Amino acid sequence: MPASSSSLDMSSLWMPFTANRQFKAHPRLLAGAQGMYYTAADGHRVLDGTAGLWCVNAGHARPEIIEAITRQAGRLDYAPSFQIGHEDSFKAASKVAALMPDGLDRIFFTNSGSESVDTALKIALAYHRARGEGQRTRLIGRERGYHGVGFGGISVGGISPNRKTFSGVLLPGVDHLPHTHAPEHNAFSRGQPAWGAHLADELERIVALHDASTIAAVIVEPMAGSTGVLVPPVGYLERLREITSKYGILLIFDEVITAFGRLGAATAAGRFGVTPDLITMAKGISNAAIPAGAVAVQRGIYDTILEASGSGIEFFHGYTYSAHPMATAAMLAALDIYEKDGLFERADALSGQFEDAAHSLRGRQHVIDVRNIGLVAGVELAPREGAPGARAAEVFAKCFDRGVLVRYTGDTLAFSPPLIIEEAQVHELFGTVAKVLSEIE
Ligand SMILES: Cc1ncc(COP(=O)(O)O)c(C=O)c1O
Repeated sequence: MPASSSSLDMSSLWMPFTANRQFKAHPRLLAGAQGMYYTAADGHRVLDGTAGLWCVNAGHARPEIIEAITRQAGRLDYAPSFQIGHEDSFKAASKVAALMPDGLDRIFFTNSGSESVDTALKIALAYHRARGEGQRTRLIGRERGYHGVGFGGISVGGISPNRKTFSGVLLPGVDHLPHTHAPEHNAFSRGQPAWGAHLADELERIVALHDASTIAAVIVEPMAGSTGVLVPPVGYLERLREITSKYGILLIFDEVITAFGRLGAATAAGRFGVTPDLITMAKGISNAAIPAGAVAVQRGIYDTILEASGSGIEFFHGYTYSAHPMATAAMLAALDIYEKDGLFERADALSGQFEDAAHSLRGRQHVIDVRNIGLVAGVELAPREGAPGARAAEVFAKCFDRGVLVRYTGDTLAFSPPLIIEEAQVHELFGTVAKVLSEIE
C-alpha cells in the first residue's frame, strides 16, 4: 500500500540523512502514533520495530509523559539554564544519576546525542587540563563508530560517508581502533561473540605510537548500533577498560542508544559490568517525547574541574536548552514509567524469545548473519552486485507497506522495538521480514 502524499508541498524541507529526491517522489508519511504502532498518512497501521530511531523505549504517546509536558508548558515554559535553575532540572539529574554505575553521578544536560558526545569530549579535555596535563588532547574513536554529527562526533566517529565531505577540517589528533565486525569468525553469534577481545589490544599499539601522555580519551559505543548492530566480543570492553586505566586515559561509553533499557539493564555499562568514566545518553532519556540528552560524569572528574578553576564559572560550555523545563518534565515522567513498569527487566526477560525470533531468519535466502543482544538485533543481507544497500532498502519499503517498521543501514536490517513489545508482536515483526525476504530478488 503506497503512503499518501496528497497535495503537500515538500519542496522547502531539506530532510536529514534522507535521499530527498527519492523520498519526495515516493513519500512515506506518518500521521500518528500510539503504543507499539504508528499510523501512516494513508491510515494503515505500522508496527514500530525500531522504537522510532532507537528512542521510544516506553512506547508511543504515554499519557503520563503527555500530561507532564502539558502541565509544565503551562507552568514554566522556559527557564534559562546559565546562572539560574529550576527544581525539575536538579530532580531529573538525581534520577538519571541513580541509574548510572556507581560514581558516575554528576549530570550535564544537553538536547541530543550529538551534543552529549561533544560535551563529553570537551569534559575529557578540560579534566586533563585541570590536572596539569593539558597536552593530553588526542581522542581515540573506533572504525564504524557513530557518535552523531557534530565536528567532534564525526571526527571520532568511523562512518566514512559522514566524514569524507569534511575530511579537511575534522579535529586534529584523532586516531581509531579497528572495528569488531568479523563475520568469518562470529556470524550468527547469539549475544556477545566469542571471538575478538584481542582487537582491544590495538589500543596498546595506538598508545605506543602516540604516547599515553598525549591521549585524553577513548570513546566507543559499547554496542555499536547505527553501523548495523555490532555486539562487543566477550572480554573486549573489559580489555579497553584495563588499558585505559593503566595509562590514565578516560573511557567514554556512548550510550545514546543503549542507555535506558535497550540491553535489558539501565545502561550497557551495567549490563556488561564495565564502568567507564563518562557516559553519553539521549533518546530514551525522555522517551523521545521532547529532545533531551545528558552526560554522566564520574564525580572525581567533576571535582577536579571545579577545584582547578577560580571562583567563577568552572566549565565554559552549555546550551540555551540544557535542562529545558519541558525536557526535564518528559525525563522525569519517562524515568518513572521505566521504573514503575519494570521495563528494563521486561526487556531482559523478553530478550531470549527475541533472540530466537531473530535467529529464525537464519537460513532464509539473502541472510548472511544475525546478531543480537537485549532487545536489539541486526540481520545482515548479502548485497546485490553493484548496488550495496539496495536489497535492505527494498525489504524496508516492503515491510513498511505491510505494516512493519524496520531500519536498515547498508545491507543490515536493524530491529530495536519499544520495550513494551508483546511476544506476538515479536513474531509479527520477524515473520513479516521472513515473508518479504522470501519474495524479493
Ligand atoms: C551512539 C550514538 N551517538 C550519538 C548519536 C547522535 O544522536 P543525535 O541524533 O540525537 O544527535 C546517535 C544517534 O543515533 C547514536 O546512536
